[in-house]
Amino acid sequence: MTAPVTTRSSADLIRAEEPVLAHNYHPLPVVVARAEGTWVEDVEGRRYLDMLAGYSALNFGHRNPALIEAAHRQLDRLTLTSRAFHNDKLAEFAERLARLTGLDMVLPMNTGAEAVESGIKVARKWAYEVKGVPADQATIVVAAENFHGRTTTIVSFSTDETARQGFGPFTPGFRIVPYNDLAALEAAVDETTAAVLLEPIQGEAGVLIPDDGYLTGVRELTRRKGCLFIADEIQSGLGRTGRTLAVEHEAVVPDVLLLGKALGGGIVPVSAVVARRDVLGVLRPGEHGSTFGGNPLAAAVGTAVVELLETGEFQRRAAELGVVLRGGLAALLGKGVVGFRARGLWAGVDIDPTAGTGREIGERLLREGVLVKDTHGSTIRLAPPLTITPDELTGALGALEKVLA
Ligand SMILES: Cc1ncc(COP(=O)(O)O)c(C=O)c1O
Repeated sequence: MTAPVTTRSSADLIRAEEPVLAHNYHPLPVVVARAEGTWVEDVEGRRYLDMLAGYSALNFGHRNPALIEAAHRQLDRLTLTSRAFHNDKLAEFAERLARLTGLDMVLPMNTGAEAVESGIKVARKWAYEVKGVPADQATIVVAAENFHGRTTTIVSFSTDETARQGFGPFTPGFRIVPYNDLAALEAAVDETTAAVLLEPIQGEAGVLIPDDGYLTGVRELTRRKGCLFIADEIQSGLGRTGRTLAVEHEAVVPDVLLLGKALGGGIVPVSAVVARRDVLGVLRPGEHGSTFGGNPLAAAVGTAVVELLETGEFQRRAAELGVVLRGGLAALLGKGVVGFRARGLWAGVDIDPTAGTGREIGERLLREGVLVKDTHGSTIRLAPPLTITPDELTGALGALEKVLA
């Protein structure tokens, strides 16, 4: 245990939040004060294995030394310029990110939702200028149970009523089809369609993995119908599934890729729209922007993230340890687990409702020193840092077995 960082207890800090912090989250009762690698420590010095990794924003672990060093180096030199001027870090970030993803151009933003919003704007502009869709008629086809963020436009095409209720009026121009259903997609795409926007694996919905061939089918359909395929890899991308991108499992290259979360190395928000030149090239000065997007600190950290992914080590770890994760979960089938879906170091685990709700399992795991997050009632999501060791992973699976018994 290390020296306390505050004299206030966890209980006191949780109580202090209540009157002053908006209640838009229902966190587990743990107050984190420090972290290193796969472990976090609360204000009392108790240690927990982090099996959520900031919803995949911490793919490289907490305070990854290479990323912290890149951030420190940049903090000592230059942090923000705005895009009114060039900065000496942005070209390398864009070049290396484009090369990593096999696409041409990068639009740097900050949060995931901003990348999604930006992707929607670029697709609409492309539809009017390149495809020739009549003004203000462009449609974008999305999947039911999607999660792309929290802005007014994005919740306009959510099917989660909790995310929408009370936030209308909504942005028009979206068509919703069932996920993993190529016939429904075929029927929804017409001459007004600018893009099909999908998560290659639906994370928030419970790590829903489409059938083999679905993403290939989406690629073929969008090409045949003359609209863009936008893959939202904000949660599925950057090593999580055992590949740099989840679309690589079907060797699919989308027209537009949305990245975020782990791109900021768990240090700063960094997101990006990455696309072919004939798509992202539709943007001209003044049409879109962000004060913080592409700032030198973000670019330095983002470049260091790309450098880690260029080694292939994290993708390999996710693929190899994914075998351990799947094996461990398979052994729990019928022992409190009624089903699971997993790819790489990412799993949605459906808990037998008689064993407890997802929230209750999360609370019991917390007492065992393991952090997870529930989603959709009786499902928990496992997404540890890709730096997790086999022993740590086995330990987490053991804790899950214990709390389900
Ligand atoms: C697939 C996907 N897209 C977009 C977002 C939104 O990202 P942010 O919370 O950074 O706005 C998320 C966040 O969970 C996500 O999982």
